[in-house]
Amino acid sequence: MITFDESTQVFHLHNQQISYLMSVEEGNLLAHLYFGKAVSHYAGERAYPRRDRGFSGNLPDSSERDYSKDTLLQEWSGNNTGDYRVPAVIIRDENGARQTDFRYQSYRIVAGKPDLENLPHSYVVDDSEAQTLIITLTDTALNCDLALSYTIFDNWAVIARDAKLINRGSHVLHIEKIASMQIDFPKQDFQVISLPGAHARERQVERQEVGHGVTQFESRRGTSSHHMNPFIALVHPDTTEFAGEAFGVQLVYSGNHQETLERDYIDQTRVLAGINEYDFDWKLSPKDVFQTPEALLVYSDQGLNGMSNTYHHLLRERVARGKYQYAKRPIVINNWEATFFDFDSSKIQEILNNAAPLGIEMFVLDDGWFGHRDDDNSSLGDWFEHAHKLQGGLKEVSRQIHDKNMRFGLWFEPEMISTDSDLYRAHPDYALQVPGRGKTLSRNQLVLDFSRKEVVDNIFHQMVKILDNVKVDYIKWDMNRHLTEVYSAALPADQQGEVSHRYTLGVYDLAERLIERYPDILFEGCSGGGGRFDAGMLYYFPQSWASDNTDAVARLKIQTGTSLAYPMSSMTAHVSVSPNQQTGRATSFEMRGDVAMSGVFGYELDLAKLTDAEKEIVKKQVAFYKEHRQLIQYGDFIRIKSAFKGNDFAWEFVSKDKSEALLFRFKLMSLAQPEFTLTKMAGLDPKIVYEDEKGHSYGGDELMSIGFYDVPLEAADWTSKVDYFAAKERA
Ligand code: GLA
Repeated sequence: MITFDESTQVFHLHNQQISYLMSVEEGNLLAHLYFGKAVSHYAGERAYPRRDRGFSGNLPDSSERDYSKDTLLQEWSGNNTGDYRVPAVIIRDENGARQTDFRYQSYRIVAGKPDLENLPHSYVVDDSEAQTLIITLTDTALNCDLALSYTIFDNWAVIARDAKLINRGSHVLHIEKIASMQIDFPKQDFQVISLPGAHARERQVERQEVGHGVTQFESRRGTSSHHMNPFIALVHPDTTEFAGEAFGVQLVYSGNHQETLERDYIDQTRVLAGINEYDFDWKLSPKDVFQTPEALLVYSDQGLNGMSNTYHHLLRERVARGKYQYAKRPIVINNWEATFFDFDSSKIQEILNNAAPLGIEMFVLDDGWFGHRDDDNSSLGDWFEHAHKLQGGLKEVSRQIHDKNMRFGLWFEPEMISTDSDLYRAHPDYALQVPGRGKTLSRNQLVLDFSRKEVVDNIFHQMVKILDNVKVDYIKWDMNRHLTEVYSAALPADQQGEVSHRYTLGVYDLAERLIERYPDILFEGCSGGGGRFDAGMLYYFPQSWASDNTDAVARLKIQTGTSLAYPMSSMTAHVSVSPNQQTGRATSFEMRGDVAMSGVFGYELDLAKLTDAEKEIVKKQVAFYKEHRQLIQYGDFIRIKSAFKGNDFAWEFVSKDKSEALLFRFKLMSLAQPEFTLTKMAGLDPKIVYEDEKGHSYGGDELMSIGFYDVPLEAADWTSKVDYFAAKERA
């Protein structure tokens, strides 16, 4: 899969689907040649066209006027040596110089994929699945090596990249910026798709032209954030869901991130992604190594669905881990929107008595069971049981739940501390804070300094005390504010720029220790809804709460955006009350069920308040979901219609062998004299005859090419329809 041609100095990573080409150019600069559809042979026509250009200087100490770093397509750009575009790396030397100039040294190819130490990453199960090319570049003045790593998987259109800096000299260096990946694309018209959002409005798909200058997407909040997901896709103006090229860039990282595009003066586009340089300054002492997070690059020539499908498989099969990676995820009833903090044993008993006969499989006790937490003003950091709320305590709750043949889930917010807590009274320095300055409260809480091992240890031991004593089957790990006063009492002045990355490493450390100690617990990530929905967390927790917004209509957009980069098995979705508590919108029970059922399903409402008719609907929804759970959680997901401008959403799940499919259709606003709209399915076997639940037969090719009208949906706003098709026979 990886070759190096000594005579042309060209590296070629290739499989059946993609090729990635680079060359060692004059001056030992590592040039980017190509990333895209597989080519079997490369003759050399992408070599840098030589031309003297005004105001783009030449290599240091060279009089060769038609060769400039400023226009060369590169794999790794330096700083302050003639490439005026955004650099991939900036390192400050002891003398204050911030120049970086890495040149090719050597390469090696290894079978499989080396692990990234202390960071989440994609992996192989067998070394024959992938090969990794490690190219070493050196900045001789800094005496620093850079190992660029490229993994190609045998049957996916994916390149996984990361970079490692090694200080081989005697100077103390400071990394001010280091990307995880760089690609410089030759001239072409690009648009970029990103996933901006907000709390309760996560991952809204945005598509814009890539104009001249710098376009940047980032989070400075200490987490990947609701506000900008660590994912972008470069597409052409004619790329659709089903056709055209798409280049995905996704970081396996949960902290401050930065995705940068620069369209230069001859219309080439540079793409960089990695840890955000904002507030970042890493001390690299002699012999130290710095490892960047991983970036997952995906190529598709089958539109956005092609790209998403590759990410879905990759994240599900080679990033997520553990017992629940492929397991059926239980249907949840969560007490949060039913009770908020106001629960006691009898309320829980009532929820259980209602949930069990409906077929719901797990009860999750949300916020409020610990310390003296009766509202959100206290007790974070005190992970011992609330003295009065639950008779017999958590042990008794767990026993009652298991007696009903259900499973027990529990909420934690490990990274936080309330000023009204025993932990804060004992260790006020455990909270992030800058000496002599005020501490910013958000939701009336502070953030623990997870860059310190003793802080992470403290929380770990408190959690262990609970989890070793109470049978818990699931943990919802929440994180309900962003970082401020990013400063650590434990680090010297010249390392304060490391705190936010070290914080993220602390989160990963605690997550890893917990999943190792409790392999039978299913973990769900959460950060005020979908505020840390990223591939980094997915490495530890196979699912994540997609949004605090449970309004079915808002969820159509949130779940569509999420599906661009993340598999449906990672996205949890619950039915809640109508009118919805976040938007005030009233939707039918059916519509709420159909939207929530498109992910990892559950309920988040007071079951006792449901009418008998509604309970019957719940029973049906639960039974339907159980019957099709495998298909929804592990089948291929295809976006058919995404109504960012129109009025319809439609999506589909197809099994691997194409023998069954589920089609979900949603109509937004009701119109008088509506148009007749058609839906055509996708991803089916054209030769299979499928039967729907009414016993009607359709050819696979008929469903895909002819399709059917979307009538008759009732005359109301926000309606939905689900159809199931199973293979009857082969045509
Ligand atoms: C966050 C979560 C909610 C709930 C509350 C509890 O907002 O996203 O689901 O757990 O915290 O405080």
